[in-house]
Amino acid sequence: MENNKERAQWASKIGFILAAAGSAVGLGNIWKFPGKAFAGGGGAYLIIYLLIVLLIGVPVMVTELSIGRFTRKNTIGSFRTLDKRFGWVGWFGVVCAFVILCYYSHVGGWVLSYIVSYITEGSTVMADGLGYFYGFLGIDAATGATWFPTRAIIFAFIFVAINAFILLKGVSGGIEKFNKVGMPALFVILIILLVRANTLPGAAEGIKYMFSCDWSKINSGTFISALGQAFFSLSLGMAIMITYGSYLKKEENISKNSFIICGLDTLVAFLAGFIIVPAVFATLGSEGIGKGGGFAFASLAGVFKAMPAGALFGVLFYLLLLFAALSSSISIQEGIVAFCCEEWGWKRNKTIIFMSIVCFAIGIIYTISQASVNITIPWLDFTGVSHPIAGDWMEFLTDRLLLPVCAFGECIFVGWIWGPKHVQEEVCQNDAKFAWFKVYNFLIKYICPIAIAVIIIYSFATGTTVS
Ligand code: PFF
Repeated sequence: MENNKERAQWASKIGFILAAAGSAVGLGNIWKFPGKAFAGGGGAYLIIYLLIVLLIGVPVMVTELSIGRFTRKNTIGSFRTLDKRFGWVGWFGVVCAFVILCYYSHVGGWVLSYIVSYITEGSTVMADGLGYFYGFLGIDAATGATWFPTRAIIFAFIFVAINAFILLKGVSGGIEKFNKVGMPALFVILIILLVRANTLPGAAEGIKYMFSCDWSKINSGTFISALGQAFFSLSLGMAIMITYGSYLKKEENISKNSFIICGLDTLVAFLAGFIIVPAVFATLGSEGIGKGGGFAFASLAGVFKAMPAGALFGVLFYLLLLFAALSSSISIQEGIVAFCCEEWGWKRNKTIIFMSIVCFAIGIIYTISQASVNITIPWLDFTGVSHPIAGDWMEFLTDRLLLPVCAFGECIFVGWIWGPKHVQEEVCQNDAKFAWFKVYNFLIKYICPIAIAVIIIYSFATGTTVS
């Protein structure tokens, strides 16, 4: 087990890649991406997303990993070491990770609970997917009666405990080991579901849709939504990749690894698209496609109901989500734990347990605000004050403010203050190649910060009704 003085390191190259890809591949890939791809005209969205990952995702990934490995510190420590004036960038990242952890671990608990539901009462869930989901969150849709969502909270607690257990085993002994099993398992389940979905009668229409490019569905909103999706999906703009980079050996080629991590994350998102879209076309029809929690927990029940041995595929699907969610949530918490231990001198194990309890407790607000208790928090943007439910407010705070501002600060800092040359030096350690440095230099100075600034302004100008 790592102690505070000796810095942890990834034990193997593949271990690091799987852990970083595990962080990136999460709920975002599986339940958000397919719905966005459908709304964005299938193939047209895939092309745009791919371009965004290449032009913005990869350079920011290279930047974060390089900063982490150069300073060998947590996110806030890194920025403070490089330039005291930019410590706030790290703060945005760590606070963002903290808020995400609060709700992400609860959603992870819902996933865990659904695995059990599909095993023990699959036919009940599938008979009325929406009703079951509402009931799970504590409301009777017909009468409006509400109750405390005890089951959802208990499973969130179990999820948080599993998460803490893995982290307590340390960076290489816990995170790396878990991902070495979890990520291959995730790919196996993806392939099984891919074959199942694409052999359903009627799936061909969905496949055709994903390969066709309906450019009429693309507008400026599509770009913004794809950009936000790419950042969240790649785990950028938070404390994660800097922290993961800080455990990376000097022998590793950061540029190559960034392409691999971004490539794996995008591959999983595309595969999820090619599972969900054809499966929904074949069973519910194209109108059935949606995104987010309501879609993943409620609408998909109809898909499983319509296929033979649906409950079994339900279990497999939520198992896939569980692996995806766990490998991401451990990374989010690692970023926070590394900060508390290094900057405040806290003991690693105590920090993990303390953070788990605090995040679980705050996350209860996320879960109960969904349906059972009416909790709203004011949100201020260019359109005025609105009152989203607490759960949505937490997501707005991270997706619209903390994450993009952190990423923006990183680009400005590296592009204009610290200098891309330092990133080049870090990438080129041990004679590693960074053939596209000139392109990187241009992207990180101009394209990335401009694109991120546009996301921030756009999301503050559109109001809270648009997601
Ligand atoms: N990238 C993960 C997903 O797509 O679900 C979520 C995530 C992980 C967000 C780690 C943030 C993070 F730091």
